[in-house]
Amino acid sequence: MILVTGGTGLIGSHLLYRLLANGYKVKALCRKGSSKKDVKDLFDFYEASPLFFKIEWVEGDVQDYYSILNALHHVTHVYHCAAMVSFRPSDRKMMYSVNVEGTANVVDACIEKKITKLCHVSSIATLGKSHNGSLIDEECYWQSDDNHSFYSQTKYKAEMEVWRGIKEGLKAVIVNPSVVIGPGNPNKSSGELLQKVSKGMRFYTSGSTGFVPVKDVVCSMICLMNSAVENERFILNGENVTYQHFLTLASKAFKVAPPSLLAPRWLLNVVWRIEYLKYIIFRSLPRLTKEAARTSMNHSKYSSLKVKKVLLKDFTSLHESLLESVIFLTSKH
Ligand SMILES: NC(=O)c1ccc[n+]([C@@H]2O[C@H](COP(=O)([O-])OP(=O)(O)OC[C@H]3O[C@@H](n4cnc5c(N)ncnc54)[C@H](OP(=O)(O)O)[C@@H]3O)[C@@H](O)[C@H]2O)c1
Repeated sequence: MILVTGGTGLIGSHLLYRLLANGYKVKALCRKGSSKKDVKDLFDFYEASPLFFKIEWVEGDVQDYYSILNALHHVTHVYHCAAMVSFRPSDRKMMYSVNVEGTANVVDACIEKKITKLCHVSSIATLGKSHNGSLIDEECYWQSDDNHSFYSQTKYKAEMEVWRGIKEGLKAVIVNPSVVIGPGNPNKSSGELLQKVSKGMRFYTSGSTGFVPVKDVVCSMICLMNSAVENERFILNGENVTYQHFLTLASKAFKVAPPSLLAPRWLLNVVWRIEYLKYIIFRSLPRLTKEAARTSMNHSKYSSLKVKKVLLKDFTSLHESLLESVIFLTSKH
């Protein structure tokens, strides 16, 4: 039996679908009151509604150690996808608790219950910079002076909890996906960005990063869990592209005009400051934060050579994955 945490999220819901389609028995940890609608919508989209009803939902929270222990009853393999992603200063305490302490709880519970293998979903945010312009790979280590967002810091510390567990005898694989693209909730993860694109965007930013289809993320996770590989981390990245290229591809998929104006650095710096002031005064959700502005101007390229040596296959193209996301968003929302 497999346990998935974060099963109602983008990666978790696709993982649940793929595991069940492959015939596995699956439990999913779910917080009290969490909606399962996104998961049902996804299964319906893949015309696999009967599989949705095979998920055994177990109520629990990664912040509650005993709820994880309870969920691990009869479980041999764990996929830990639960996390909180936020750039709001007011979410920091909760994000630390969910991402760092929550992962420590999952690791400790896996050790206590003698789980066969854990797959932890980390992020490219935990990697360091590359030297001499080469692609960032698994050997690029985090530097504490690199101006990281608070989210990145929590993901780094969460990954460290898994490495600590490995030292204590846990068998685990860690995946570090880049920006994950695929059918999902338009108000969460990359769905939020695609939703904005669907309404037409005027500006693009100067940076570049890696993007990876969610299908490839979950297939890689399952393949790594089924392999003899253990105690290693793997970057999951499909293509390195500029934000301008990504936004143009996505706009074309939505059949809207692509953004044509480069947002200069000074404009981004003005916008995030105004948004911050509005947040302080009115507590309104910032549309741009300092961290997001900085990230949108970074140039980072990632290597996925290591995982491809295990998978022995290439990833789906960004274009194909965007088309599928757009069909999902336009059909459901
Ligand atoms: N999406 C990306 O582009 C991307 C890229 C790199 C790495 N990652 C990593 O991939 C993982 C999954 O990301 P995602 O995009 O799928 O996230 P997501 O769509 O925001 O989903 C987050 C999931 O975590 C669950 N969760 C939050 N707090 C929890 C708690 N206290 N206890 C139990 N479950 C909790 C949520 O459940 P509720 O339904 O109850 O809220 C939801 O199922 C995260 O670790 C993220 O850091 C994501």
